[in-house]
Amino acid sequence: MNKKIDNTRWVTDIIFTEEEIIAKIKEIAEWINIEYAESKNLVFVGLLKGCIPFLAELIKHITVSHSLDFMIVSSYHGNTKSSDTVKVVLDLDENIADKDVLIVEDIVDSGITLKKVSEILLNKNPKSLKIVTLIDKKVGRKINFEVNKYGFEVPEGFLVGYGLDVKEKLRNLPFIGIFDQSKLDEL
Ligand code: IMP
Ligand code: MG
Repeated sequence: MNKKIDNTRWVTDIIFTEEEIIAKIKEIAEWINIEYAESKNLVFVGLLKGCIPFLAELIKHITVSHSLDFMIVSSYHGNTKSSDTVKVVLDLDENIADKDVLIVEDIVDSGITLKKVSEILLNKNPKSLKIVTLIDKKVGRKINFEVNKYGFEVPEGFLVGYGLDVKEKLRNLPFIGIFDQSKLDEL
């Protein structure tokens, strides 16, 4: 007999259901469709791996012409600003010079990762560079950094699901919830 395991057991609270997330992503897509209505050369740059569920849902609702590219960056945040480093683990496939680039990210917390990625991409001379993130944890900011469009603003707390991971797991949860720290050893 199959034992049904409930994937809500990983979280203490569900803060956004799948329905709420999809409705919000449709709003973000609307914004993109208007913002880039005149764009001749739009590239979405998804930051792997957290962008996957968000980007997969987002592009279903995009009506403007675009291509997809990806990066993997790993960030290490030290105790001082100067010790923050972002390493490019996987770089872009396309040349983005003179193109409209839209970074697609799962969550912005301190803002350090996105700030560094923005600097790296601006060095490649895109026509424009903007950022959308599904979740904006504004309370976590350590630097002055704003995204162009976000889905949900959240309070402090470690979230999992819909791309957000703990120890590279739980990205598959179809909702976003507050991780139950007592389950850490089970992952
Ligand atoms: P930042 O440089 O602090 O903005 O880092 C953002 C990155 O930290 C995101 O891309 C996530 O990988 C990770 N992160 C920040 N907050 C959370 C969270 O609540 N759950 C899962 N990952 C998070
Ligand atoms: Mg990430």
